[in-house]
Parts: sequence; structure tokens; C-alpha cells
Amino acid sequence: MLKAKNILLGVSSSIACYKSAVLARELVRRGANVQVIMTQNATQFIAPLTFEQLTKHRCIVDTFDRNHEIRVEHVSLADWADAFVVAPADANVLAKFAHGLADDMLSTTMLACDCEKIVAPAMNTRMYENPAMQYNLAVLKTRNFCILEPEEGELACGTTGKGRMEEPERIVDYLEYLLGYGKDLKGKNILVTAGPTREAVDPVRFLTNHSTGKMGYALAKVAAARGAEVILVTGPTSLEKPSYVTCVDVVSAEEMYQAVTEHAAESDIVIMAAAVADYRPKTVADNKIKKQENDSVLELTRTKDILGTLGERKRPGQILCGFSMETEHMVENSRKKLEKKNLDMIVANNLKQVGAGFGTDTNVVTLITAQGDEELPLLSKEEVAEQILDRLAEMRQ
Ligand code: CTP
Repeated sequence: MLKAKNILLGVSSSIACYKSAVLARELVRRGANVQVIMTQNATQFIAPLTFEQLTKHRCIVDTFDRNHEIRVEHVSLADWADAFVVAPADANVLAKFAHGLADDMLSTTMLACDCEKIVAPAMNTRMYENPAMQYNLAVLKTRNFCILEPEEGELACGTTGKGRMEEPERIVDYLEYLLGYGKDLKGKNILVTAGPTREAVDPVRFLTNHSTGKMGYALAKVAAARGAEVILVTGPTSLEKPSYVTCVDVVSAEEMYQAVTEHAAESDIVIMAAAVADYRPKTVADNKIKKQENDSVLELTRTKDILGTLGERKRPGQILCGFSMETEHMVENSRKKLEKKNLDMIVANNLKQVGAGFGTDTNVVTLITAQGDEELPLLSKEEVAEQILDRLAEMRQ
């Protein structure tokens, strides 16, 4: 999502500098061009060479470095950048930014920048809470700086409190949210479901399926990055919750039914990517079921069809999208579900196809609508999410 985006990474003096290396690496991994400017003091914590190896660009510390190309470096870097993220931002650089000081390469470049500006403060709690610091942060907010609030926790100085730099993964998520896409879905409410459901058998056992939630989470993340207000109703998964999305945790099909029906009415688009159990045990035993000598039979009953219910209640202009996993007659079976549940689109995949299905980072899907079928090639789940959202957004217009 950050492919070909130019990110200027500012590194100032804090023990959190070690996280900047992880941040630089992650930005490069997600396709960004990264250039690093350090304060002189930051070089006491981490060597410029580390960033040069990670970014394949010269790391700049000294404004009067004689190796500069013949151009005004701080201005050319400011022009080049789509975003300037300073992480960690120490108390000193934040004060300089707030007051427009320009006495080193980092602060000079910041003053010359009119791109997106993001700071991730890192310092001791008392320094952070000092009224002078809070004043400086308030000033920066009025100047459209995005402040990624530090977290509470154990600090390197031995105390516990607010002051830990935001985690690199979260900073990258924010940059993806900011720069990854145009905001073509702004103003849209999108409800996404993801993951499996668990249907209790007794206090120790449940029935479930192999869904990991990756496809639904990718949809929620991309929809939010494109500006939509997203609610993600998620069954149990081990995935990190996407940023900038409202998440509702559920366990069983019944809980998912309740959560989805509560939010569906105000949703412009509903995408049911969850693998909802079609059956649950007829009764849930209060105590653990003990094994018997002979075969045992577990009586099952149907769960509520969530998407079917939404299809019956669909209001004009609302778009419903389902998912369908098949191992044979994929298109025919999926088209029947499209019609039966009153859907606008169903995303079908064949579990037997390489690169498709549970737990993979890729998918091979066919988008089925009343107008026809469109088979997509092997794509990452985020790319599949983009394609699905493109089609659904076109239908809304
Ligand atoms: N779905 C739902 N409520 C259920 C079961 C499924 O909303 N109780 C949704 C899924 O999230 C998915 C779509 O319906 O978007 C799948 O339709 P379904 O007919 O349940 O598909 P399969 O379970 O694959 O059908 P079958 O078991 O008959 O092959």
C-alpha cells in the first residue's frame, strides 16, 4: 500500500531509536522509498549506517555535510517527501517544531515541509506531562501535525507511565491509512464480518472451521484506508485488529447475528466474509461430556442465516456481498446463493485451487453478480479486497 511513496523518517534522541530501525525496515518492506535524517544526539543511540543499510540511501545528520549534492538538501528532501514522520520525537525536537527553530538538518527540513507531518513522541512520563510539552503538542496540533500519542507502560528510565513510543507496526498502519489510497469511500458506512464462529458443545469443546479471518480483515483495513467508516464484526482469530476500524468481537453464529443485525440498517455496504457455522449443537451440555463405550451422536440444529435475513430486509440502495467456498460446481452453487439471499455480489473461491482459501495471504476468486462472472487472477488478499470494494462502490453509484 505504500508502493512508490516517499517517506522521510526523522530520528531524534531517545532509547526508542532502536524501534526506528524496525520502522524503516517495515516501510521499505511495504514498498516505500525511505530517507532518514537524524539529530546528532540520536547517533549516540544508533548508527547512521544501520539506516543506510536498511534504506539504501545516505542517512543525513549534518546540515553542512560536504558530500551533499549541489542542491539545497533540506528543501529538496522537503519537496521529495509525501510524509515526514519523526519517530522517536524527543522533547527537544518537538519544542523546536512548535517554535519554528531551525538549527540542524532535522528541524530545518521540517520547517521547509508542507507534506503530511507525523510525530511519535517518546520520553519520560513527567517530561511528557510537563505543561511546556503539552503546550508544544497543542501548538503542533493546530498546525496539522498528527501526534501519535505515546503508550503507557514500562519505560527504559525505570518508571511506568505514558511515554513509550507508538509501535512501528502502528505507525506504518497510520501511514498506509494516510497515503495508501485516495479517499473514494469517504462518507460510506461499511460493515464487514470475518473469521470463524465457535459453537459450544460443552464447557470444553466447540465446533468451528478453518477460517483465519485474513480476507475479512484485509477488506476492513482497505475500506478504512479508502475513507469508509468501517465496523468489523469478528469471530475468534489470532490476527492483530486493524487500525481505524471499529471492531466488535463475537464468538457464536447467534452472537454474530445479533451484532450484524444491530449495525446493518445504517450500513451502505455489508460484506459477509465470515465463515459462519451452518449448524450448532442442539443443546450445550452444562458439564463436560464423558466418553461412552459405544458411538455417540451429537444432535445439531441450523443457525440463523445472517445474510439471508439481511437479504430479506435489504433497503433500496444498500449493497450486500457474500462469500462462497466450494470444492465443486463453484459458479453454479454460488450463483444459487446470490439469488436465494438477494445479494448484489458473491465472491466465490474453489478451496482446491492453489493460493486460494483458508490461512493463505493470497486468494483466487470469481466475482459473481446478476450481470455475469469475473474471474480474478492470483492476488494478495489486500488486492482482492481492493477489487471487491471497487465493484461494490461502482454499484452504489
Ligand atoms: N452466512 C450467513 N449465515 C450463516 C451461514 C452463512 O450469513 N448462518 C453467510 C456467509 O458469511 C457467506 C454466505 O452466507 O457470506 C455463504 O452462504 P452459505 O449458503 O452459508 O454458504 P455455504 O455455507 O458455503 O453453503 P453450503 O454449506 O450449503 O455449501
